[in-house]
Amino acid sequence: MKYRSGKELRELFLSFFESRGHRRFPSFSLVPDDPTILFTIAGMVPFKPYFLGQKKPEMSRAVTSQKCVRTNDIDNVGRTARHHTFFEMLGNFSFGDYFKAGAAPFAWEFLTEVIGLDPDRLYPTIYKDDDEAFEIWNKTVGVPENRIYRLGEEDNFWSVGPVGPCGPCSELIYDQGPAFSCGRPDCDVGCDCDRYLEIWNLVFMQFNRYEDGTMEPLPKKNIDTGMGLERLASVVQQVEGVFGTDLFRPLIDRAAASLGIRYGATSEGDMALRVISDHFRAVAFMIADGVLPSNEGRGYVLRRILRRAVRYGRMTGIDRPFLSDLMPTLNEIMADPYRELVENESLILQVVEQEERRFGRTLEQGTSLLEAEIDSLRRKKAETLDGGLAFELYDTYGFPFELTEEICREAGISVDREGFEKAMERQRERARTAGKRHEGASDKSLYEKILEETGSSDFVGYTEEETETAVVALISDGARTRYLDEGTEGEAILVKTPFYAEKGGQVGDIGKITWEGGEALVTDTWPGTEDLPVHRVKVLSGRLETGAGVRAVVDGRRRRRIKAHHTATHLLHEALIRVLGDHVRQAGSLVTPDFLRFDFTHVKPLSPEEIEAVEGIIFETVTDNIPLQVFFTDMNEAKKLGAKALFDEKYGAVVRVIKIPGYSVELCGGTHVDATGDIGLVKIVKEEGIGSGLRRITAFAHAAAFSLFQEQTSLVTRLAEKMGAGETEIEEKLQSLLEERKALKTENERLALGAALAKADELLEEAVEVGGVHVVTGVFEKTPQEVLRQAGDHIRQRKSPVVSCLASVSGNEVTFTVMADERAREAGVHAGMLAREAARMLGGGGGGRPDIASAGAKNAEGLEEALRRIPEIVSEQIRR
Ligand code: GLY
Repeated sequence: MKYRSGKELRELFLSFFESRGHRRFPSFSLVPDDPTILFTIAGMVPFKPYFLGQKKPEMSRAVTSQKCVRTNDIDNVGRTARHHTFFEMLGNFSFGDYFKAGAAPFAWEFLTEVIGLDPDRLYPTIYKDDDEAFEIWNKTVGVPENRIYRLGEEDNFWSVGPVGPCGPCSELIYDQGPAFSCGRPDCDVGCDCDRYLEIWNLVFMQFNRYEDGTMEPLPKKNIDTGMGLERLASVVQQVEGVFGTDLFRPLIDRAAASLGIRYGATSEGDMALRVISDHFRAVAFMIADGVLPSNEGRGYVLRRILRRAVRYGRMTGIDRPFLSDLMPTLNEIMADPYRELVENESLILQVVEQEERRFGRTLEQGTSLLEAEIDSLRRKKAETLDGGLAFELYDTYGFPFELTEEICREAGISVDREGFEKAMERQRERARTAGKRHEGASDKSLYEKILEETGSSDFVGYTEEETETAVVALISDGARTRYLDEGTEGEAILVKTPFYAEKGGQVGDIGKITWEGGEALVTDTWPGTEDLPVHRVKVLSGRLETGAGVRAVVDGRRRRRIKAHHTATHLLHEALIRVLGDHVRQAGSLVTPDFLRFDFTHVKPLSPEEIEAVEGIIFETVTDNIPLQVFFTDMNEAKKLGAKALFDEKYGAVVRVIKIPGYSVELCGGTHVDATGDIGLVKIVKEEGIGSGLRRITAFAHAAAFSLFQEQTSLVTRLAEKMGAGETEIEEKLQSLLEERKALKTENERLALGAALAKADELLEEAVEVGGVHVVTGVFEKTPQEVLRQAGDHIRQRKSPVVSCLASVSGNEVTFTVMADERAREAGVHAGMLAREAARMLGGGGGGRPDIASAGAKNAEGLEEALRRIPEIVSEQIRR
């Protein structure tokens, strides 16, 4: 067998199937367009709608090398030679075209003839009663009967998840030879060790499984196959496991250089190197596809993987961020064909490094807390770590639950997941924001029913702000109704509407609906379903009836302000990229008539100069008054135009493009100004961090910016008047006022201290002696503690043994400062206890060290009496 690099193997596979009538696609995103799964876990995921018959494919055969992430075996990554989180799946697909009789010979031909694997070491497995597959392997392909293994559901039935397309499958197993065996006497095809390596899974996709477990045949019989590129490379390159292949080994060597260890020297070090190289690869690809660390969903998975890698790094002794060292090597191996790595390189580096720093700071503390707890559990012979502690580790020290679990498992201890989840739920409950997003919105199922019955309703608001239309359906209190009477509120669906339904961050329109004899306000508009705008209405007069012809009129002034803010976000987006760099990506936005909010990827706060530069670029583009071009096209064309798109935009879909010629091109469904000059003015009013690697800008445009400008100039005028200075002198004047204030404060303190020391001298005169110790007590008016301490010191320097108990009274509040010198302490005096007793007499509390302490109470009444009792308490302390 000829040596082939990973890159060559990928290309051989794609071109083999391409020459057999398959359309070649570049890998789809790791983030699937599918709410049932977090990541693309197999090559078939992007094609799911074709298998289910929900969409008609343009081709009946396809081939890909698909980026995949699977984390179900993450604890095994590093421990074995074949587990990893990120991998590439080579797959050929047939959508109702060829079936078993086509798939099996293709696979055999590729492996034995193109790659040159020894056919005598290849074993097909089949689902236990799949005689059809048996016949094909045996008769068509020519594999002897005794080399075809029938296995059960676990091995030979494949499904993408609990629901969805599935079917029996046939795997090709490659015998790596006895040297790879686990040595068990029954080690044979189907054994879980490294000897009988599964390299290719051919799924005969013919059922759809529902939530209740029932299966129905799919409209057509399909083929879905999956072969791990890394595994294939390990076999072809004849190395031990995936980490020895050219897809991994350079990463391992690079990591080893950073950690200052050698691969092969110790098993702990090797494990760390495997974990780090695998996890870094996964993390880089995830970030390149738009995932950012967070505490939920995909972001959480990313964080878990990243932090696991950081922990393994720390275990080898490195205490600086090091993962980014691997980036150039990863690019060398993968940037062809995965350009997204290079395009997002600076984002990847920044996010990874920030996470490493963040977690690096708490990892040590968390680990020692956890280790202490594990020790104590062991001593108590207990087996379960408290869920509350796991939550504290998560919440305070940033330990993903699974990391805590893995560390505990290494020590033979389990973690109370239920307790953890309860603690988490309690926290969520606290954080949950009150209220629904759309006041009065009904259940989605009702909107879906209406849509099914009445069809979609058209949005005409890109070109019109008013239109003649008719009422299709009305809803009152979550149920369909024929009419809404004067004074009532409800929801209305129209045949067509100029009202923009909230979407893509742009708020919904408001306005009114009028008809013969009546009028209703529209107070909000949102998408009930994607194609069904729903209007919240309040009937002011008359009766609004289903079927009635109405005139729908958007509040045009408000709409103009919204448009200005929306186009302003596009200007801001591009200006941020120009000023900060290509790593800036939109992560969310909110467009309202009064302000805009724009979230984006960037790790540092913006400097005042950067903010000014961004505002400057926007200002110029506004004053250039560039007419916008708005048009529909397909995704490929849009990409060619260099359009900025969100990460999850679908391949092949029709998209709407907003082009500001000479400035920016962006995909967007929102409403925009005709020319940039209509925006008027844009001013950034706030810039803040909102999470790992994410910043948020709030800005005002149009009328809001103008009002801000008016308010601020009038504020400056008022301030100037108050200060009795010209507007340009305010700053100077303020500076001198601040300096004056500071000088006065210092002077005040000096005087207060002088007075306090003088008073201390007087109190010394009145000191009483208890068992040889001088006891000094006294009351001061509103005196800072620091001054009382100095008074206490003053007393200590003048008498010995001495204890002072000085109270400061402010309104009804008392604070005690108690100090005892060394000889008084030797005699048995304890300042902390004395302070506590004194405060307790007034219903308060406090305490401290034997030499110095403070305490307080909120009830000054009885202070005299309390101070009178101090010598008595001192005497008790001495006697004890
Ligand atoms: N879709 C086939 C596999 O993941 O094995």
